[in-house]
Amino acid sequence: MTGFSYRDGVLCAEQAPLTELARDYGTPAYIYSRATIEAAWRAYADAIAGAGRQALVCYAVKANSNLAVLNLLARLGAGFDIVSGGELERVVAAGGAPDKTVFSGVGKRVDELRRALEFGVHCINVESEAELLRLDRVAGELGVKAPVSVRVNPDINPDTHPYIATGLKQNKFGVAYELAPGIYKQAAGLPNIRPVGLDCHIGSQLGALAPYAEAVEKLLVLSERLEQDGIALEHIDVGGGLGIDYRHAATLEPDCAAASEPADIPDIAAFVGLILELVPATYNVILEPGRSLVGNAGALLTTVEYLKTNNEQRFVVVDAAMNDLLRPALYQAWHDIMPVAARANARPQRCDVVGPVCESGDFLGLRRQLAVEQGDLLAVLGAGAYGFSMSSNYNSRPRAVEIMVDGEQAHVIRPRESVAQLMVGEAPVAE
Ligand code: LLP
Repeated sequence: MTGFSYRDGVLCAEQAPLTELARDYGTPAYIYSRATIEAAWRAYADAIAGAGRQALVCYAVKANSNLAVLNLLARLGAGFDIVSGGELERVVAAGGAPDKTVFSGVGKRVDELRRALEFGVHCINVESEAELLRLDRVAGELGVKAPVSVRVNPDINPDTHPYIATGLKQNKFGVAYELAPGIYKQAAGLPNIRPVGLDCHIGSQLGALAPYAEAVEKLLVLSERLEQDGIALEHIDVGGGLGIDYRHAATLEPDCAAASEPADIPDIAAFVGLILELVPATYNVILEPGRSLVGNAGALLTTVEYLKTNNEQRFVVVDAAMNDLLRPALYQAWHDIMPVAARANARPQRCDVVGPVCESGDFLGLRRQLAVEQGDLLAVLGAGAYGFSMSSNYNSRPRAVEIMVDGEQAHVIRPRESVAQLMVGEAPVAE
């Protein structure tokens, strides 16, 4: 489910035509479908219930950290996976439960660890010996015992873009598999540390389940070995990373020239089923999905500013750019780009969809087949995860408005930034 479909030739988010949203709120705009987020959540909840198990689903806040998204998921019962003090404050502000929150990340500062312990997070996923020692000290100062999981790097190739593969031994993440027993032994001997779990996160946008099976097997071997050493763990956290299908235009509009072949990505039920089958019920299971909960729920709505041709190369210049959606520039990621109102008799032409930012890497899609004219609206799909959350003010571009659609109703969940906001706090140096 994407939450986006054509009605009378106009692309809609749920029942809200994107033409009307563009008219009322301007572009570029991030549009999210509430029902799509809820459906993805239900897919996790149903698969867990169907297996007769319990599991803590900790939404990876970095995928989309808008308070409305966090609040929606908190009300559905989600826990959270955070990677900074800022994300912790967002979770709390959105009504999320700290005791269902796990704190990941390779470089946690003292103040971040302290705040997490003060809030009483469920677990801190420690990524190095140095972090463990720091955490022991901070917990000692607060007079608490920190619940800890060691993030293990299982050295598994997740077959994804190198920038989002995290579980290979050359990556900065986690503790080498071979070193983990020693770290746990050390953790068990520290006065202010309580080892409660074991975790990994092997990468993002995974299109197959085999790497998960491999990772879980390795975690279980390690956990059994720790148990023999007298360290009994309560939970296994397999991280996030399940991919989404970024090529679903064909399912929206079979005749659409922008259509791309759907990919063969395992669904949420298959993913959850596999994990719960592999991990014995004696462990609590934690999952940290980000993209698979929100990715398909979002689109970036943009207006065609200009059409131009340079040396045979056609460019569609739109008002959204790499500062709004970085994924194409950073990972050469594919996002389907759909005309909001298809032009029935126009001939699609090959073009690059580019933004106004002064970088040749500023594109949203290359070599697309589109029939568009100046002033047309386009929707960049699959933008609900790592879209707004990775956006910036590069080129002094205010960040886009964010809108959550619920049926026919549109809610502004973050207004468009103003240029004045971008300059707040900046001042010339005094003489
Ligand atoms: N847990 C940990 C420890 C993580 O580092 C991540 C993502 C997740 C969970 C959630 O992964 P997900 O289920 O969303 O794949 N900006 C990139 C993705 C970076 C992911 C970083 N870590 C992108 O746009 O593809």
